[in-house]
Amino acid sequence: MAKLTKLDDIVSLCKRRGFIFQSSEIYGGLASCYDYGPLGVELKNNVKRAWWKNVVQMRDDVVGLDASIFMHPLIWKASGHADKFADLVSECKKCNTRTRVDHLQDSETGTKKAEEHAEHVSMATEESKQYNLANKVCPNCGAVGQFTAPMPFKLMFETQMGANAEDSMTMYLRPETAQGIFANFRNVLDTTRVKVPFGIAQVGKSFRNEVTTKAFIFRTREFEQAELEFFCEPGTDEQWYEHWKEQRCNWYLNLGLKKENLRFRDHDPDELAHYAKACVDVEYRFPFGSGDWQELEGIANRTDYDLRQHQRGMRTLNRWYESGRDLTKIKLADEAEDYQSGPLSYFDEEKKARYIPYVIEPSAGMDRSTLAFLVDAYDEEEVRGETRNLLRFHPALAPIKAAIFPLVKKEGMPEIARSIYDDLKRRFNCFYDEKGAVGRRYRRQDEAGTPFCITVDGQTLQDQTVTIRERDSMEQVRIATAQVRSYLYDKLDL
Ligand code: GAP
Repeated sequence: MAKLTKLDDIVSLCKRRGFIFQSSEIYGGLASCYDYGPLGVELKNNVKRAWWKNVVQMRDDVVGLDASIFMHPLIWKASGHADKFADLVSECKKCNTRTRVDHLQDSETGTKKAEEHAEHVSMATEESKQYNLANKVCPNCGAVGQFTAPMPFKLMFETQMGANAEDSMTMYLRPETAQGIFANFRNVLDTTRVKVPFGIAQVGKSFRNEVTTKAFIFRTREFEQAELEFFCEPGTDEQWYEHWKEQRCNWYLNLGLKKENLRFRDHDPDELAHYAKACVDVEYRFPFGSGDWQELEGIANRTDYDLRQHQRGMRTLNRWYESGRDLTKIKLADEAEDYQSGPLSYFDEEKKARYIPYVIEPSAGMDRSTLAFLVDAYDEEEVRGETRNLLRFHPALAPIKAAIFPLVKKEGMPEIARSIYDDLKRRFNCFYDEKGAVGRRYRRQDEAGTPFCITVDGQTLQDQTVTIRERDSMEQVRIATAQVRSYLYDKLDL
């Protein structure tokens, strides 16, 4: 049960120090929605920046994109989401609460089905399964075996766009950022010098009307994804799949996640999403429930599924207009016989061959990664009879890189501390604090995860040196004021 306490501790620290708040709290809160406070927004931005640096900036074969959240509705018909992106739910006849059938517990054994690992399951697979709900317990009222027959519950949020009846249409909030990338494949090919193998990366919000939300920011209805679609020649896909598995695992490890809390889990064939040939989850040992391993990121081999589907989608446009812009009234057009040379194919200059590239997709949740980095960094230790709470963030992720203090508010110390602060804040996020005992100021920065505290003291006035205290070891070094900037650059590895 110690693990449960740990998530509670983190939730309370997040609230107390302004990392994460419940959305709409002054109105009693909105379930499954969260707001990132002053420290939280810095932390999450740093997670996104670290992903972008690793996946885009440091590579010659990946370019970036920022597609709009609203996209043509046919995109969701072609991708399969409009028809297949749903969870199978069952309603309790006693209390009318709906629960995902793969989340129901057995009354005797207390076990769930193995598929609960999957974020969402392919409806085609799910509908063909027989669920025995006779022994299942309602998580809301405790009734046993009172469930209705399972039914699909669509996960995409719908809204209306357009002011006039004749051009208004049903739109969807995107449930993944990936489709914005496929829809821009041709644009990127035509406007840049990329050649297969290459990737297009994007970070942005996604929305799913989840049946069950879970554990703080772990599963919410609005969340942020960082996705890469890496296009490669068919036949080389398995090799690239292995490459990205290794890259993505190393990213988490290099940013400080402990190796013993990270593992891969291959999907079983009946668990694969409708588009995937193979998929592996990067799992993290989150401290909730029974301390289960939970998905942090999925890495999938999407084959040529999406580009082929969008070629069909483009051929469906007339049907869609004729239906009065109603997706529910149309069938997707058949694939053209010469689909291999269609508008979303690629001509390989070297091989003088045309084909539709295969896609390897590492898809990471930025809120989930932020939670994992928070959990992994959290620590408590006894220091001289007092508990010290600290976040041992990797410097690249720390919301504040350095805090600057005058030891006392007199003798010119605040002025010197301010001038150091003014210099450093132009380069990275810093914090100036002159209030209260210096020990308490150190503790506040430990709790925020600030790796370095710089103190201007009496000796500074004599020899222009300051102390720099390191968060994890609490050790202090004394260096010349003029060297503070280069010292921090070196240590922060920015
Ligand atoms: N394009 C593939 C895709 O979207 P996914 O496994 O459904 O795959 C990828 O989602 C990642 O997005 C997950 O591993 C998770 O980190 C994050 N994610 C998915 N649904 C989420 C939710 N409701 N709340 C928070 N993060 C979520």
